[in-house]
Amino acid sequence: MKLDLAVRRARIVSGCVLVAYLLCHLTSHAAGLFKFEAMTATSAILLAPWQTLPTQVLLYGSFLLHLSLAFVALFRRRTLRMPAGEALQMLLGFSVPLLLLGHLVGVRLGYALNDWNPSYARLLGLYWVTAPAAGAQQAIVLVVAWSHAMFGLHAFLRFRPWFKRAQPWLLLAAVLVPSLSLAGFAAAGFDVAQRAAQDPGFVAQAAAADGIADPAGGARLAAIAEAARSCYLALLVLVLSAWTVRRLLALRRTIRIAYPGGRQAAAPRGVSVLEASRLNGIPHTSACGGRGRCSTCRIRVIDGGAALPPPLPLEAATLARIGGCGDVRLACQLRPTGDLAVVPLVEVAAAPDGTRMPAHLLAGHETRIAAMFVDMRGSTTLAESMLPFDVVFVVDRYVRTVTRAVEGAGGIVTSVAGDGVMAMFGHHGDGARGCREALAAAVAVHLAIDGLNGELARSLGWTIRIGMGLAHGSSVVGAFGEVGGHRLQFLGDTGNTAARLEQLTKERAVPLIAAASILDAAGIHLPDAARASVPLRGRAEPLEIVAIADLAALGRAAPGGASAAT
Ligand code: FES
Repeated sequence: MKLDLAVRRARIVSGCVLVAYLLCHLTSHAAGLFKFEAMTATSAILLAPWQTLPTQVLLYGSFLLHLSLAFVALFRRRTLRMPAGEALQMLLGFSVPLLLLGHLVGVRLGYALNDWNPSYARLLGLYWVTAPAAGAQQAIVLVVAWSHAMFGLHAFLRFRPWFKRAQPWLLLAAVLVPSLSLAGFAAAGFDVAQRAAQDPGFVAQAAAADGIADPAGGARLAAIAEAARSCYLALLVLVLSAWTVRRLLALRRTIRIAYPGGRQAAAPRGVSVLEASRLNGIPHTSACGGRGRCSTCRIRVIDGGAALPPPLPLEAATLARIGGCGDVRLACQLRPTGDLAVVPLVEVAAAPDGTRMPAHLLAGHETRIAAMFVDMRGSTTLAESMLPFDVVFVVDRYVRTVTRAVEGAGGIVTSVAGDGVMAMFGHHGDGARGCREALAAAVAVHLAIDGLNGELARSLGWTIRIGMGLAHGSSVVGAFGEVGGHRLQFLGDTGNTAARLEQLTKERAVPLIAAASILDAAGIHLPDAARASVPLRGRAEPLEIVAIADLAALGRAAPGGASAAT
C-alpha cells in the first residue's frame, strides 16, 4: 500500500513537472502573435531555466518516469473497461511519445550528436516551408499533450474544496493557453513563410546559422527517430500482450459476485468489487474514482465474508471515518478471493420523477460543510410517562419544528433517526455562508423549540429540552441514498463529530457546542463563550470548541437566526 501511494505521488509530481514545462513552452509559442522574434525572445526567458543540466535531468527524468509508470499502470489494470474520460486520457497520453519522438530526437540528439541548436527561425522554416506535414504534427501533439495534462490535473484537483469555485477560471485557462499557443505558432509561421517567399535563401540561411548544414547528420537523426518510434510501439504491444496473457490466466480463476435483484458479476480473481461491477455493466457509485477516499462505493457483504482479506490501511482509515465496521467494506479496495454476495449501500442515480440534479451532485463532490446534530433530551422519560400516541405527536411536532428552522436558515435536513436530526449547511459551495447559516439555524431551532414548548406546556403539561452540536469539515456531498431513494446527503466524519459535540452539551450543561472553526469562518466572536480544546472519539487531534450558553447573544451576532425562527 505504501508502494502504491509512492507510485501515485511519483506520477503526480512527474506530471506536474511536465505541465510546468509545457506551460512555458506554449506561452513562448503564444508570443508568436507578435512576430517570431517575440517568440524567440520569450522562449529565451521562459525556456532558459529548463536548459541547465539539473533541470534537463528533471525534465527528461520526469518524462521517462511518467511514461514508465503509465506502462506499469496499464499492465496492472484488471480490466480495460473504464469511464470514457479515463480512456481518452490514457489514449492521449500514450499518443504523445509517438507524436513527439521525431521532434525530441531532432532537437535533443541533434544538439548532443551534431552540436545543432535550432532557432525558432529554423524550426518555423522547417514546419511552415520545408515540411508542413511535420508542422501539422507539432500542432496536433501540442493539443494532445495539453489535453492529457488537463485530464490528469482535473482528476488530481477535482476533490479539493476550492475546486468548484475555481473551475470556471481553470477551464478558461485550459482553453486559452493552447488556443493562443496555436495562434502564435500560426502567426509566426506565416511571418517566416512570407520572409522565405521574399528571400528563397531564408530557410537555408537560418539552418546554416544554427550550424545545421550536414544532410548526412539529418538523415542519421531521422533514422534514429524512426527506430525510437518502432521501439516505443513494440514496448506498447509487449505490455498489452503481457496484460492479455495475465488476463487469460486470471480468467481461469473466476469468482462470482451476487448483487441484489438477482444480478451476478463474474470476474477474474484479484479484481476489486468495483472493477467487477464495471466489468459486468452493473452501475456502482464511485465518487472518487476508486481512490479509497470518498466511501461512496461501500457495500455490505452478506455472504462469503469469512474468507475476505482484512482491510488495508487506506480502506481501514476511510471505513473508520464513516464508522463502518464488520461487514461493511469499500468496493474499490476489496479484492475478494472467493464468491461473494454484496449489497451496494450508496446509489447514485437520476433524481426521482424526472427532477434533474446538477451533474456534480449526482456524481458527488468534496466540499467543506457545517453539520448540525440536534437531539431531544429526556426522550426515554417522555416515552415512559406519556401515552404512545402523545409521544408520536410530540416527536412529530419536534422534528417538523427543527426541520422548518433548519430549512429557514438555508440548511438541509439529511436524516432523522428517532429524535436525532442531522442537517448540513454549505452544500452550495460557499463555506463562510454555510457557517453563518448553521449558527443562525442553531438560534432559530432554539427559538422555535421555545415556541413549541409554550404550546406543549398548555396542551400536555410537558416541555422539550434539546442539545445541539455543530461540526465543520470536508465531506462528499451528493444526491446519494440508500438503494431505492435519493436525496442530498453528505458522507464523511463531520456528522459523527457533530453528534459527539451534541453529547458534550450534556456534560457542559449548555444548549450548543460548536467547532471553533465555524465561528471563525463565519466571522463571529462571542467574548463570553468558553473556548476549549477537547479530545473526541475517532479523532487523532483534539478539537477546539466553543460552548455557547447564551443563544440570544449568538442570535445578535449571527443575523438571520431570529428571522429564521419566525
Ligand atoms: S470509490 Fe471512493 S472510496 Fe471507493
